[in-house]
Amino acid sequence: MQCIFQPSDENIDRARQLIESGSLVAFPTETVYGLGADATNDHAVAQVFAVKGRPKFNPLISHFTSIEDIQKHADLDKKALLLAEKFWPGPMTLIVRKKETSTISKLASAGLPTIAVRIPKHSLAQQFLKTVKRPIVAPSANKSGFLSPTQANHVYQSLGDRVDMILDGGECHIGLESTVIDLSSDKINILRPGAITIEDIMPYIENMDISFTPKFSSHEKIKSPGQLTQHYSPELPLRINVDNVFPTEALIAFGPKIYSGAQKTVNLSETGDLVEAAANLFSVLHSLDKGPYRSIAVMPIPNEGIGIAINDRLMRAAHKDE
Ligand code: TXA
Ligand code: MG
Repeated sequence: MQCIFQPSDENIDRARQLIESGSLVAFPTETVYGLGADATNDHAVAQVFAVKGRPKFNPLISHFTSIEDIQKHADLDKKALLLAEKFWPGPMTLIVRKKETSTISKLASAGLPTIAVRIPKHSLAQQFLKTVKRPIVAPSANKSGFLSPTQANHVYQSLGDRVDMILDGGECHIGLESTVIDLSSDKINILRPGAITIEDIMPYIENMDISFTPKFSSHEKIKSPGQLTQHYSPELPLRINVDNVFPTEALIAFGPKIYSGAQKTVNLSETGDLVEAAANLFSVLHSLDKGPYRSIAVMPIPNEGIGIAINDRLMRAAHKDE
């Protein structure tokens, strides 16, 4: 694993040189590992799409270290600033109007008049972003349509040597991608649920319309490709909300009362803690996907708080397009 590097000053400076030369650097955030490239370099952004095998219409998130830097590229209105000041740095992405004068590659926003922006909280992500001194696009560092990485070696398993450098920051502590909130129209629209929930943002958006529309049908027009039906997917068939388990299956359990009879059982949280379950979800799916099971069964997860985001990812993972 030549391309996994520990986070020393020397390695972070090497990461800066790579980014400046248009290469790709994967780095940890508090949500998942991102596949980073210079957001202002069309060629580097194109390389991100190529390495991920991602459909071109799927726009990317630009990562920053300050609200002031974001305002060079995007208009933040009152509600955006309220949410920004409350939840950044953190696991929240805002879709806002892009400035005409922004130097961010049009490819990054897939030609849309809007742009996705986020300030991550992870200390290594911040150190990396401060050192490169430019916005960094970073989709999750996995092949398009597969599981998001929560460890450096997941990135390597999915993308191999096509990434020039993977900065190792250990396990991502949230383990699910950021909440995506579209503020580009009069209404507030949650396009992707995450660790920051509707209940968390409610107090800051008084008197405003809010809707929650992650889409599950592949036939509907896609506003955020996080809405693609089958997006987070293991190779083995996945059964969710199960009330029984087969002897040839791996069981993903939740809480103290678990089903018996599975070939292998892994508990997301023995105490029934949803935050702990979210942090474990992708690494458990990664490890079970190697087999030797016929399928993976998942016990019901309460649909509240970050449980909504867990169920959103599980539904996508279980769905197979015909
Ligand atoms: O936690 C995260 O958000 C991670 C870490 C690395 O920051 N990144 C991530 O990026 O999940 P990505 O590219 O896999 O997901 C970005 C989401 C997608 O659902 C994309 O469609 C949506 O944001 N998005 C980006 N720009 C958009 C725009 N202008 N309008 C609507 N949706 C947009
Ligand atoms: Mg992704």
